[in-house]
Amino acid sequence: MRYTITAALLYANGPAHIGHLAGCYIPADIYARYLRAKNHDVLFVSGSDEHGVPITIRAEKEGLTPQEVVDKYHTIIKKSFEEFGISFDIYSRTSKKIHYDTASDFFTTLNNRKKLVVQKSEQYYDTIRNKFLQDRYITGECPKCGNPNAYGDQCEKCGATLSPSELINPRSALSNATPIMKETSHWYLPLQDAEKWLKEWILETHQSDWKTNVYGQCKSWLEQGLQPRAVTRDLEWGVPVPLPNTDGKVLYVWFDAPIGYISATKDYFEQKNEPIDNYKKYWQDENTKLVHFIGKDNIVFHCIIFPTMLKAHGDFILPTNVPANEFLNLEGNKISTSRNWAVWLHEYLVDFPEKQDVLRYVLTANAPEQKDNDFTWKDFQTKNNNELVATLGNFINRAFVLSEKYTENKVPQLFDLEQVDVDLLKNLKEIPTKIENSIENYRFKEALNFYMELARIGNKYMQDNAPWQLAKDLEKNKNRIDTILHLSLQLVANLAILGEPFLPFTSQKINQLLNIEPQKWEKAGTITILSPEHSLQKATLLFAKIEDIEIQKQIDKLENSKKQNELENYTPENIKKEINFDDFSKIDIRIGTIKTAEKVAKTKKLLKLSIDIGTEIRTVVSGIAEHFLPENIIGQQVCLIVNLAPRAMQGIESQGMILMAEDADGKLKFVAPTEIVKNGVTVK
Ligand code: MF3
Ligand code: ZN
Repeated sequence: MRYTITAALLYANGPAHIGHLAGCYIPADIYARYLRAKNHDVLFVSGSDEHGVPITIRAEKEGLTPQEVVDKYHTIIKKSFEEFGISFDIYSRTSKKIHYDTASDFFTTLNNRKKLVVQKSEQYYDTIRNKFLQDRYITGECPKCGNPNAYGDQCEKCGATLSPSELINPRSALSNATPIMKETSHWYLPLQDAEKWLKEWILETHQSDWKTNVYGQCKSWLEQGLQPRAVTRDLEWGVPVPLPNTDGKVLYVWFDAPIGYISATKDYFEQKNEPIDNYKKYWQDENTKLVHFIGKDNIVFHCIIFPTMLKAHGDFILPTNVPANEFLNLEGNKISTSRNWAVWLHEYLVDFPEKQDVLRYVLTANAPEQKDNDFTWKDFQTKNNNELVATLGNFINRAFVLSEKYTENKVPQLFDLEQVDVDLLKNLKEIPTKIENSIENYRFKEALNFYMELARIGNKYMQDNAPWQLAKDLEKNKNRIDTILHLSLQLVANLAILGEPFLPFTSQKINQLLNIEPQKWEKAGTITILSPEHSLQKATLLFAKIEDIEIQKQIDKLENSKKQNELENYTPENIKKEINFDDFSKIDIRIGTIKTAEKVAKTKKLLKLSIDIGTEIRTVVSGIAEHFLPENIIGQQVCLIVNLAPRAMQGIESQGMILMAEDADGKLKFVAPTEIVKNGVTVK
């Protein structure tokens, strides 16, 4: 069977993080490695998505050109994926000429075949910069929450999805000018024309083999009815529209990016110096299975829009399946590149060198296959220590250490089998089929679990048969020890074969220890991999315990980035209604010094303070007990509103109000003079 496996082209607007790995690259890699092990013809393609607004926004933020941004991040991302063993046959990019040519041809073909329509519309235009404004480049007041800095597509304060025309007092983010509405024309893909066959194809034929989350999203899109979708934009960065008189227009990023899978395939053959037309086998042959691995935010593009493009073009096959994952969160919060709430792959490898498989393991065991899931560093540590070290590593290590001790580091003979051995072989025989079945149905978490079951079985077998006990009477029990170790070592060899899709680095190390070449998948389930008398390497540990202090370091790092973020991205409250100077001068603010402080009994939040304001000592009850220890604030100077009508709190009369400001952690800080001043002076 021939397979074309694609993993979403990642925007090259930041480094890759664990959410990317868990969402699509690890599952795609497991699938590709498995199919290769089964001797299928596999082409696994991906690359950088280098167009679109995410790139231009990043370019502005970093003061670089879009090309510089994609060059920078493509390099970082590509390296990370290589280091994590994601076995792409090609990791291409959409700024390559081969992609420009492929995407332009695709568009031209659709246009020639009358599969596109041109429509006029009005869009916001910046008359100072002479540019049409994409949604992200229009800011204004959010109609839902009043945030003055909402974007044309979203308000980051209240989370509402917006369209530019909903913004109150829109402004251009480029020039701050008020944009005008200007007519423009664009090419549209009339999705509604495809509705009928899409419904048949997805709703009728893929009800049982597509994942429920994927099927469900498609169903709701199809039931709502499809609309024409613009496939061009008024922008400078992108693939130019390949028609005359279209200056300033490019293909919409979601039109060109999926075509990038096809360009990547051509790029692969070009780089191998093979005929480029070989790509057709992977894209145009009905016997090829096309499988798209993506995250859930990409479902509509891969299940509805791209298939509509492929079908309209006419020469291409449609995907067999689109196994999309849900999202991975990090310590309870959504992973975000712009907010630096992420575990970056290149940083992980600095902190945990050579522990790629640990992360691969945790992200697979915890994969957001059916629902969003959470990555926590504690869970990472537990899975490493309790599963990889204590089960998988421990079993394999024992098999080697005991062979070193009792069988001269060689594979011993197999003698008569006892019932425990027969049971072991039965399990061993069944597990490969279970793993296969799970992988073929895109249930990678379940597949990994079957794999670990084999390690658990091995561990238990070793524990129950305790060759080290039998060794107390070595003469009498020699054959039995040999048999146990023979079977254990064969099991270890099986773990290398079956583990390769999930833990490729570990699998390779096991083969080195066993002193054998990587074995074919068909050998799995058998005990004919190692022959008696075969020499083994000396035991080394495959996994090491991860200590609390390493985990704490990661948690602290996240805390820091949270703080940083809150400082950078804080949206201040709206400014209050204008007042005149008289209004202001009515407020009497004085400097005072805290003389005593104590908690108000039976309250959590209140401190009772006495404050020297030069002329007198004021008693003030303030809601700051959760922010300061009383003993730490004696002597602190504060700004106090001294002419506010007194009010009773918990039976104490409070004679003033202290000025405070909140820091990035939400902790209150005193607003105070930078140097000691006289008590009682007026703040002006
Ligand atoms: N760059 C998009 C994202 O990161 C995915 C593009 S997938 C492709 O969400 F099909 F368009 F290539
Ligand atoms: Zn809002």
